[in-house]
Amino acid sequence: PITQKNAIVKERSVSVILLAGGKGKRMGADMPKQYLPLLGQPIALYSLYTFSQMVEVKEIVVVCDPSYKDIFEDTKDKIHVDLRFTEPGKERQDSVYSGLQTNTNPSVQAIDSDAELVCIHDSARPLVYSQDVEKVLKDGWLHGAAVLGVPVKATIKEASNKSFVVKTLDRKTLWEMQTPQNLIKAGVTLFRKGLEVTDDVSIVEHLGHPVFITEGSYTNIKITTPDDLLLAERILNPRSSS
Ligand code: CTP
Ligand code: MG
Repeated sequence: PITQKNAIVKERSVSVILLAGGKGKRMGADMPKQYLPLLGQPIALYSLYTFSQMVEVKEIVVVCDPSYKDIFEDTKDKIHVDLRFTEPGKERQDSVYSGLQTNTNPSVQAIDSDAELVCIHDSARPLVYSQDVEKVLKDGWLHGAAVLGVPVKATIKEASNKSFVVKTLDRKTLWEMQTPQNLIKAGVTLFRKGLEVTDDVSIVEHLGHPVFITEGSYTNIKITTPDDLLLAERILNPRSSS
């Protein structure tokens, strides 16, 4: 089984894959949502700075369209981790795959092959707390794969395609998944072999290995629609009247 005995994630042992390759269709802005300003700073830079300040992090592989590379490169004087870049794919999962490539081709800036833990994060989640990242890294290291999640607060019903209720799901068993999601190297190797999966840790599920859910914070929202931008502003600056 993919488990470790030592609960300590070593310094500079983690490669972060920061996903910034989406187009943000549901936001409907004139640029991909991860580059929109949130209180004056591009959304994607919030989590970049959070990860770059963690001693466990060795490098950050940004998966983004090359035309936006400067936004990240301009932070280089302020951060002390290696920044690398790969190009996005059609779907989120293709972008994850792109970020996971190892460096066989020197022109491709892929992840360090010595990384012991890979941490995959949506740049559209700017508000993740470093304490929650620490927790999920540790759980990923201990259990082989871990993902941040929060217990579902709403009542969720399954509906037929004509919008009639089919059944009510038991809330007690439901968790909303967030990112980051962490995989140890063994999981990454399996992932590269190319099983088609819809989220990053489900490869480990396919192998019959449990994925640990680390309880995170409700404030780690994903910016998807314009409402989420207002909400994020309020979370960052609760007393603002704008
Ligand atoms: N993402 C990516 N490559 C893709 C699609 C998504 O790197 N081909 C990233 C996004 O940039 C985002 C995260 O995956 O940080 C979560 O995806 P989502 O919230 O769906 O973002 P978008 O696909 O950009 O938005 P939409 O679905 O509204 O177009
Ligand atoms: Mg999408």
